[in-house]
Amino acid sequence: MKQKNIIKNCLLLVFSMASGVSLAGTPSASMLADTCAGCHGTNGISNGPATPTIAGISNDYFIEVMEQFKAAEIPSTIMSRIAKGYTEDEIKLMARHFSGMKFKRKPQQFDSKKAALGKKLHKKYCEKCHEDGGRKSDDDAGILAGQWAAYLQNTLQDYTSGDREMQKKMKKKVDSLQKDHGNDGLDALINFYASQQ
Ligand code: HEC
Ligand code: HEC
Repeated sequence: MKQKNIIKNCLLLVFSMASGVSLAGTPSASMLADTCAGCHGTNGISNGPATPTIAGISNDYFIEVMEQFKAAEIPSTIMSRIAKGYTEDEIKLMARHFSGMKFKRKPQQFDSKKAALGKKLHKKYCEKCHEDGGRKSDDDAGILAGQWAAYLQNTLQDYTSGDREMQKKMKKKVDSLQKDHGNDGLDALINFYASQQ
């Protein structure tokens, strides 16, 4: 895919920047975060489509997902290699930095009929943990509302194929969603999240 090549080319630059930072002594959170901006946008607000916005996601989820990338426990195109370049303390610094920022939603295309169905499905299957229509990250579950659709689609595919492990209770809900509504259910949910702008 084209997107993957762009990401790969971008990586070399990132690595040289990252090593420069660590040679210079203890880097500040914003110095560390600068190396993420090329892909995740200024202040963690991504321009999409497959790179998620990371501003405003919960501190604990940020740390957890970075450690999982580092250990290659969850599939990634690029983050596994990037996360390996950072110590636990540096990840904690960045987590505090990004979680203190505001998640901003950029307009994206969606199908309003699918979004309306997605809203209902979200209430039934997902709202319990992804509160306020997926806007909250209080339960350390990431932010779904307004997250980039292509990123959510990749992530949901990783979950449903079993490449990324789901929490037991989430798996139960996703399994019954798929049983009742098939892949159209997931598609409707993605359109609902994209509709929150
Ligand atoms: C070369 C592009 C690129 C760079 C640079 C980059 N990321 Fe990422 N990031 C991605 C992509 C793409 C994903 C989706 C997972 C994947 O495919 O690797 C992602 C996913 C993430 C996620 C998961 C978000 C979620 O909701 O689960 C976090 C957290 C993250 N990146 C943090 C960072 C931090 C911190 C930095 C800087 C140290 C950084 N990234 C640098 C491309 C990048
Ligand atoms: C019992 C609680 C629970 C339920 C129900 C639940 N989730 Fe989750 N979800 C989580 C947690 C916790 C995470 C954090 C990551 C992980 O554990 O894999 C998460 C992560 C996610 C992510 C990744 C977020 C990111 O930033 O990359 C997506 C996408 C997601 N859930 C979608 C859904 C959808 C769609 C539903 C409903 C069909 C749902 N979840 C139901 C708890 C839940």
